[in-house]
Amino acid sequence: MIHASLTLDPAFRVGPVRRRTFGSFVEHLGRCVYTGIHDPSASTADEDGFRTDVIELTRELGVSTVRYPGGNFVSGYRWEDGIGPVADRPRRLDLAWHSTDPNTVGVDEFMRWSAKAGVEPMMAVNLGTRGIQEALDLLEYCNVPGGTHWSDRRRANGAQDPYRISMWCLGNEMDGPWQIGARTADEYGRLAARTASAMRMIDPDLELVACGSSSSAMPTFGAWERTVLDHTYDQVDLISAHAYYYEDEGDLTSFLASAVDMDHFIGSVVAAADQVRAAHKSAKRINISFDEWNVWYQRRAESKPPSGDDWPVAPVLLEDHYNVADAVVVGNLLISLLRHTDRVHAASLAQLVNVIAPIMTEPGGRSWRQTTFHPFAQASQLAKGEVLRVEASSPTYETERFGAVPVLDAVATHDEETGEVVVFAVNRSLDEELGLSVDLRGFPGLRVLAATSLSNPDHTWTATADDDASVAPVANASAAVADGTLTAALPPVSWNVVRLGR
Ligand code: AHR
Repeated sequence: MIHASLTLDPAFRVGPVRRRTFGSFVEHLGRCVYTGIHDPSASTADEDGFRTDVIELTRELGVSTVRYPGGNFVSGYRWEDGIGPVADRPRRLDLAWHSTDPNTVGVDEFMRWSAKAGVEPMMAVNLGTRGIQEALDLLEYCNVPGGTHWSDRRRANGAQDPYRISMWCLGNEMDGPWQIGARTADEYGRLAARTASAMRMIDPDLELVACGSSSSAMPTFGAWERTVLDHTYDQVDLISAHAYYYEDEGDLTSFLASAVDMDHFIGSVVAAADQVRAAHKSAKRINISFDEWNVWYQRRAESKPPSGDDWPVAPVLLEDHYNVADAVVVGNLLISLLRHTDRVHAASLAQLVNVIAPIMTEPGGRSWRQTTFHPFAQASQLAKGEVLRVEASSPTYETERFGAVPVLDAVATHDEETGEVVVFAVNRSLDEELGLSVDLRGFPGLRVLAATSLSNPDHTWTATADDDASVAPVANASAAVADGTLTAALPPVSWNVVRLGR
């Protein structure tokens, strides 16, 4: 067994646990909307055609915000297509995913679904094929109480009260050559600043997200953030970050250390934002909305859109089936987001259902939890109060992608109200159990309330509709506190949670 240690102290605070760290994303892509959240043919469908089993799983997952309607999709979307009587809505080509959108679900349906699922909507506007006016029209439709063209259209469509959506994304991945209407940083920055200023004339209190880089591997990464924020610094609150470059391409040791990349990504965006802050002599800080992140096997066939004359409705796209190692990486990425809670103010696991998702459905049939469901649900339910900086000491291992990295990665939270401390930890070793000791001298009198580990001798185990439960977090009986020290044995390739209290 190898050993690692942590020291926890209530004074080592990073910042508050933010509910918005546990956001997700619903895009008109593949089967996320159609046959995912919405499927009138399912036995679980409610009066609006929403799958109640998916709503229950979304609640169990502990999702806070849901970004909508894209993603790449939004850059060609006409939001007006999705309002009014469903029979009158046009079928449209979705160029981003080479599909057909019947527009059966639009903004009003999404808002009804959000209320049922108990999530906060985060709306994206199209700055690809459209611009300031259409963003203003959508904002008027959503947030103005009534007495104007678009607000009265909303009322006529059945929503008397304004939706009062607070968070708005100014486009999506506008740095990506694949994006419809992709722009240079200068072009996008100017458009985003003008759109933001105009939107604030309707509602000055909106929380606006400018597009950052769609990956830290983009050639423009860093420079993009600087230029965009130079244009938008006074108009926006957050800059986005997207990261999917996390997949096991036959190098499991590097894959298990994916959070090293996320840490670096966040640090670089913070540096770029603060550089602009200094140049603008501004007192304001721009924080990060990490509004697309996940493990994604982009090279697999499931990620290839249809082609030619084939424009299907709700095709199988990006339907990755996650194994135990993937779940450990997702847990580790959550650790990274939590430890940066001082600057990451929102995040969205992409996506929620069927499309690189923790929840899967069969069209008209069953639903189930992927392995990645568990770390997200546990972190969302148990992380409360303040995030603590953990002073860790861990053995390292060599990776091809990141060099030497610690075997242990961990973060902890402290809820002053209940006195509970929760430790979230991963063991990245492929074959060695990790003996963890946690110095709790700053928290006298704590005992273990519960400890769980998610691992499996076969880390390639994958959940299916027939069996999504035989590998899940199970009690870790090794966890105990003695003389102010918590000790626990963490299995190889594992995600672990220890709840401590009095
Ligand atoms: O989440 C899948 C896609 O990944 C999104 O549409 C896009 O924003 C990103 O490139």
